[in-house]
Amino acid sequence: MAKRQSTLSTNGAREDAKTWLQGFPRKQLRRWLTKEPYMALENKHPSLERRFQGIGEFGLYLHIPFCRQICPYCPYNKELYRPEVAARYVRAVRKEIDIYAELMGNRPVTSFYIGGGTPTTMLDSGLGDILDRVYAAFNMQCDIHMESHPNDLGADNLNIISSMGVTHLSIGVEALQDHHLRTLHRPYTVNQVKAAVARAVSNGFKCVNADFIFALPDQTCSEIEQAGHTLVKMGFDQVAAYPLFEFPYTRWAQIAEARNYKDAGLFRRRKMLGILERIFYDAGFERTSVWAFTRRGVPRYCSVTVPLYVGLGASGGSYLQDIFYLNTFNVEAYIQALERGRLPIALSLDLTENVQMAGWLYWRVYETRFKRSDFRARFGKDFDAVYGKVIRPLSLIGLLKDDGDEIVLSDSGAYWLHVVQDLFSIEYISKLWGTSQQTPWPEKVVL
Ligand SMILES: C[S@@+](CC[C@H](N)C(=O)[O-])C[C@H]1O[C@@H](n2cnc3c(N)ncnc32)[C@H](O)[C@@H]1O
Ligand code: SF4
Repeated sequence: MAKRQSTLSTNGAREDAKTWLQGFPRKQLRRWLTKEPYMALENKHPSLERRFQGIGEFGLYLHIPFCRQICPYCPYNKELYRPEVAARYVRAVRKEIDIYAELMGNRPVTSFYIGGGTPTTMLDSGLGDILDRVYAAFNMQCDIHMESHPNDLGADNLNIISSMGVTHLSIGVEALQDHHLRTLHRPYTVNQVKAAVARAVSNGFKCVNADFIFALPDQTCSEIEQAGHTLVKMGFDQVAAYPLFEFPYTRWAQIAEARNYKDAGLFRRRKMLGILERIFYDAGFERTSVWAFTRRGVPRYCSVTVPLYVGLGASGGSYLQDIFYLNTFNVEAYIQALERGRLPIALSLDLTENVQMAGWLYWRVYETRFKRSDFRARFGKDFDAVYGKVIRPLSLIGLLKDDGDEIVLSDSGAYWLHVVQDLFSIEYISKLWGTSQQTPWPEKVVL
């Protein structure tokens, strides 16, 4: 017993040391970038009129929080699809659109992304009605990018998707070996997903993207190699390849513990990403974000691309120059707020200029390239005066290529960004989304 206790306390001390080791650089980096000791999102209802003044163009995000089954590793806000809830959701989103139409006036919407959950659950239960309202209410000047599930891509559904105006389609392929699909609890086989993709790529979309997850339990490098070649042969225009992230608030954490799944580790992930990089570059793709590779000359599939955006739907997030706010994640609370004529905003954060600049830098680096002149246009400041001290050493060690105005992330820079992203995103997303999925109206979330 004494021995067991000492083992436990040694493990506890090791865990504490690990948590400290991960937390310390995160806190230092955050403090250095944002000049803030912490960031607290609070349950305040901001007055929005003045926040819209002075904004030229917007992006629009629409969240569809329904899925036909719940995957155990998935961190996104979703619940099982029920037609009667979906019908009320459509009415609520249309009300939210009307409120924003007043605020946004005729300003152009230059980027539109429909994500989830699974948007294709609502193809014949109201997604078209929502889009009709979007097009009637806003000055839409862009293509539609939308996520889809392979099981929803029969010929009829693909025609509905095209006729709604979707030009860029993403398909959640996730894996290309049946045993890995089973590990992930995905409800289809490799042959079925191949047939769905064959239908989609011949349907005339401008870009068809595959979401693919690697570094799965017991996955080998030769399986990655085989999957990479298959993705190219399947005719995708783009592949977004993410390592499997473990979010502590998902069921995956328990499954991984019960089955004793080992974390692939940073170096193995780097090796697997390297295999995919080589295959995609050889096939004529180029890197278009930290995780995405796009066939040269094809317009890339991506989430909202403009810096300022409005998020519609349960868990939709909005970023308006000096404020970030998040809708309630709870579908019933979202519907009820709009039935009472109120915007369903649950948490908001006023952004200091340092936080805005840090956010801008994070997202531009994520896209792997950015221009000093865009920073000046956005903040009226010289980029090097603010970030020169960090950019110069990074370009000296080859993580960035500095071409005068443009700064481009190299492949090793993309990998190290992934390390930093691991440090921040998993922790921040887990706190913010984890809390928001437990409580419809949290008092405060401190990041
Ligand atoms: C909203 S889903 C895509 C659409 C649809 N719901 C589906 O599953 O096919 C977004 C994508 O995020 C990725 N994803 C979800 N959970 C992940 C995790 N824990 N680690 C890495 N990628 C993840 C998957 O590639 C997934 O396709
Ligand atoms: S991965 Fe896709 S289908 Fe699975 S729960 Fe998440 S959003 Fe739904």
